[in-house]
Amino acid sequence: MKKVKLGVLVSGRGSNLQAVIDNIEKGTVSAQVAVVISDQPDAFALDRARKHNLPAVHVSAKGYKGKRDEYDALLEQELRKHGVELVILAGFMRIITKVLVNAFPNRIMNIHPALLPSFPGLHVQKAAIEHGVKFSGCTVHFVDEGMDTGPIIIQAVVPVLDNDTEDTLAARILKQEHRIFSRAIHLYAEGRLTVKDRRVFVSGPENKSGEFLINP
Ligand code: GAR
Repeated sequence: MKKVKLGVLVSGRGSNLQAVIDNIEKGTVSAQVAVVISDQPDAFALDRARKHNLPAVHVSAKGYKGKRDEYDALLEQELRKHGVELVILAGFMRIITKVLVNAFPNRIMNIHPALLPSFPGLHVQKAAIEHGVKFSGCTVHFVDEGMDTGPIIIQAVVPVLDNDTEDTLAARILKQEHRIFSRAIHLYAEGRLTVKDRRVFVSGPENKSGEFLINP
């Protein structure tokens, strides 16, 4: 099968990037990482990429305050230079503008540590505990111009326990992030995702309803 060329945008520790790299190496994701781009010079994710001999680039956002369009044009240039087909936001802590969304329509995926549309934005595990929800989880979605608003591809659910702290809930969710992000990328690579209005449909014989609702 054809390997889809990924451009992975990161800002920090890069555990989701690592999970994708590991799954590619295991052969469960039909993709190759064409470039890893960070807005932070010292992101650990860049070290992870270099360790696997993957191109790792820091695109500084210095001087682009209030000029997010111009910064995104830089990102687009770098992504195109590496022949990227699918952009992956793996803990990229910047809001993407329409410059990038229009350059890669329905070809940018984000992972978010909550069950969207509940708890968009930042510090969402803390917000979920404080709100008192009994379940949280994570969402992989295509990126549109809003913040965490694009069409949902896969979600995974985890319980919120009485003695959870922000860290214990985040760790439980992260485990599922590592699973469903790779799964979404692989479905894309297989050409099985179709977007109609806000809904994403997964084609294929083994698409039993509920495939992604129950965690293994
Ligand atoms: C992950 O939990 C991801 O869902 C979250 O940042 C973390 C990055 O971890 N992303 C967002 O909150 C985006 N709004 P990682 O660098 O170890 O992959």
